Amino acid sequence: MTPAALHVIDHPLLAHKLTLLRDKNTSTRDFREIVGEIGMILAYEATRDLPLTERAVETPLCRTTAPVLAGKKIAVVPILRAGLGLVEGVLRLIPSARVGHIGLYRNEETLQPVKYFCKMPPDVAERDVLIVDPMLATGGSASAAIGFLKDYGCKHIKLLVLVAAPEGIERIQRDHGDVEIYCGAVDQGLNDRGYILPGLGDAGDRIFGTK
Ligand code: PRP
Ligand code: URA
Repeated sequence: MTPAALHVIDHPLLAHKLTLLRDKNTSTRDFREIVGEIGMILAYEATRDLPLTERAVETPLCRTTAPVLAGKKIAVVPILRAGLGLVEGVLRLIPSARVGHIGLYRNEETLQPVKYFCKMPPDVAERDVLIVDPMLATGGSASAAIGFLKDYGCKHIKLLVLVAAPEGIERIQRDHGDVEIYCGAVDQGLNDRGYILPGLGDAGDRIFGTK
């Protein structure tokens, strides 16, 4: 099966904001704010294919018909912790979305994801799901998160990340060829500790100021 599309968002505002995030001197406050802004841009791109219908509307001048969203139900699912940084931006564009949470952290030695929390909206299987996480490194965390959502019955899943390593993209395309990936940049690769180069460091620590 040919894997679903990889969308590398090519936009000068996004490129500029990502450079600010890469800068180690960017403050926690600015980092968090910019991650939220990029969340909005990623959500904008990932919702391009939302179906529309028509409804009658009366403008100040005449009656017409005009497009409105057909009412597709969406869930945003951040991978804790760092994914939380993207949620607000996504919800600003899609305020009616429900939010599910998956708690995963990478074991520093094995780089394997460890699950510690999961809470989904009860009707998540009927929703289109946008998984959000700033970093797609080995792809282990995102692949596990997608697997959990598929176990819930979710059929339409997209993965939104700020920065992706080629290794992570390959992993998702191998494990979950049906999942489209939206990212702000594809970086060079991983260092020997599984960090993305050039990357932006530990996204969770930089969003929450924990290091
Ligand atoms: C980071 C990041 C991803 C994961 C990516 O989370 O937010 O979830 O690593 O790495 P992978 O693609 O190799 O799995 P981390 O485990 O540092 O947890 P945190 O969000 O709590 O900081
Ligand atoms: N997780 C991060 O936060 N940053 C990386 O570069 C890789 C995994």
